[in-house]
Amino acid sequence: MSNLFDLSGRVAIVTGASSGIGVQMAKSLAEHGADVAIFARREEKLKEVAKEIEVIGVKALPVKCDVTHEDEVKAAVATVLEKFGKIDILVNNAGVASRFGVLDLEENEWDRVMNTNVKSIYLVSKYVAKHMIDQKYGKIINTSSIFGIVGSASAHLHVYEASKGAVINLTKGMAASWAQYGITVNSIGPSLFKSEMTEHTLFVDSFLKMYNAVCPSHRPGKEGELNGAVIYFASDASNYTTGQILFVDGGWSAI
Ligand SMILES: NC(=O)c1ccc[n+]([C@@H]2O[C@H](COP(=O)([O-])OP(=O)(O)OC[C@H]3O[C@@H](n4cnc5c(N)ncnc54)[C@H](OP(=O)(O)O)[C@@H]3O)[C@@H](O)[C@H]2O)c1
Repeated sequence: MSNLFDLSGRVAIVTGASSGIGVQMAKSLAEHGADVAIFARREEKLKEVAKEIEVIGVKALPVKCDVTHEDEVKAAVATVLEKFGKIDILVNNAGVASRFGVLDLEENEWDRVMNTNVKSIYLVSKYVAKHMIDQKYGKIINTSSIFGIVGSASAHLHVYEASKGAVINLTKGMAASWAQYGITVNSIGPSLFKSEMTEHTLFVDSFLKMYNAVCPSHRPGKEGELNGAVIYFASDASNYTTGQILFVDGGWSAI
């Protein structure tokens, strides 16, 4: 029986894989057979996640990297190529939230969020896509958000919303340019999942009450419910699908 979702022999990078959604995605890629390099700033956490991935039976490579700095990104990608010999899958997932609106947002906070959520995708893709173009194969997956297409009336998230909107159109632009090289570029737009980013900010009664009322599924996403989307975009099942944004949002974007 053929398995469209088999990632055996593939090499993946997941950024922002020291906690939250990135850990889930990295483990899911490993469970489907890929060796996985994980990038983030907290080295100890990366090492713990790497051990959990190796238990699955594939290779894991923790790489300390601040994805907002070009020199670190360049070195980290070179490390992956040196250890694994190639890169087939890139998940640009690192991100930060910011609960400020335009009226009270400081300029350095704007820069921090845009650098982490958008500039990082440009930087990591820059070094990885060169390699993917040469090998005429690649799967790039960018984590956007429901807040890339809607605003929030209950939380001031203006720079976060701007950054995730940018992720969506950067995805489409890279997809259009690189389809000719056998590279697909797609995006996953989660709504609400528990993570370090959300557990003390959005997983609070006031926000959850609004969320559960608005979201057609009347609940946040559960651990593992993003895995189907990441495996689809990482595997040959999506070879003719590029520039797409898949919202994993309990139906929020449908209303
Ligand atoms: N959770 C949700 O409901 C939700 C919804 C929509 C979209 N998202 C998106 O999902 C992605 C993951 O978020 P999460 O919810 O899993 O939050 P999280 O647990 O806080 O994870 C964020 C990850 O990004 C990494 N990171 C942040 N800044 C970095 C930098 N400069 N360089 C390298 N790594 C960096 C963090 O690692 P270090 O601190 O170790 O560097 C961490 O691994 C983000 O892009 C977020 O916007 C989340």
